Amino acid sequence: MKILAISGSARLNSTNTAMLRAIRAIAPSDIEVSIFDGVGRLPVFSPDLEGEWLPEAVRDFIDVIAQSDGMIMASPEYVRSIPGGLKNAIDWLVSGDEIVHKPIALLHASHRGDDMLAGLRTVLSTITDRFAGDIFLRLHLMKLEPAEVWKAVEAAENRSRVQAYLQAFSAYCMADNKIA
Ligand SMILES: Cc1cc2nc3c(=O)[nH]c(=O)nc-3n(C[C@H](O)[C@H](O)[C@H](O)COP(=O)(O)O)c2cc1C
Repeated sequence: MKILAISGSARLNSTNTAMLRAIRAIAPSDIEVSIFDGVGRLPVFSPDLEGEWLPEAVRDFIDVIAQSDGMIMASPEYVRSIPGGLKNAIDWLVSGDEIVHKPIALLHASHRGDDMLAGLRTVLSTITDRFAGDIFLRLHLMKLEPAEVWKAVEAAENRSRVQAYLQAFSAYCMADNKIA
């Protein structure tokens, strides 16, 4: 099972990115998590650049999505909304085939950010018919440094929550029927 974990933060010491990296390290052995932390490297979306003009960074991004069995996504909230970089990354996917039936679930590294989560749920359930709205993990990691995030994720209680989350999403990816 190959899961692509996308961070919506372009920040070097991002709690969301650190959380995804820590989750990769404790994933069950049959679940391979890879990280995409490059939303800040994608050019601004324009339909004029699709098709034969597709920028290389975008092609690489679409390729890793195509190779995954499912995607998980974690993002900060900016001004009560989805950060521009993540929304831009999603916009690049909308006219392609790779996202249409891709299982996607959310996780979140903060006790805040519910407006962003609501917006992201609307967007993701629009671009794929396999958005797993019921599969969600929230860890309270806001303002922590990456080393502190790792420590918190690896703590026994969170470790079992992370593993249950990944197992639930893995089962969802394998199932033919939607559960969300
Ligand atoms: C420009 C900017 C706008 C923000 N707007 C909000 C907001 O509207 N609501 C909120 O709860 N947090 C807001 N925050 C705080 C971030 O969502 C929060 O610090 C988040 O945990 C950062 O995630 P990261 O560590 O992965 O970058 C904002 C932060 C920045 C830099």
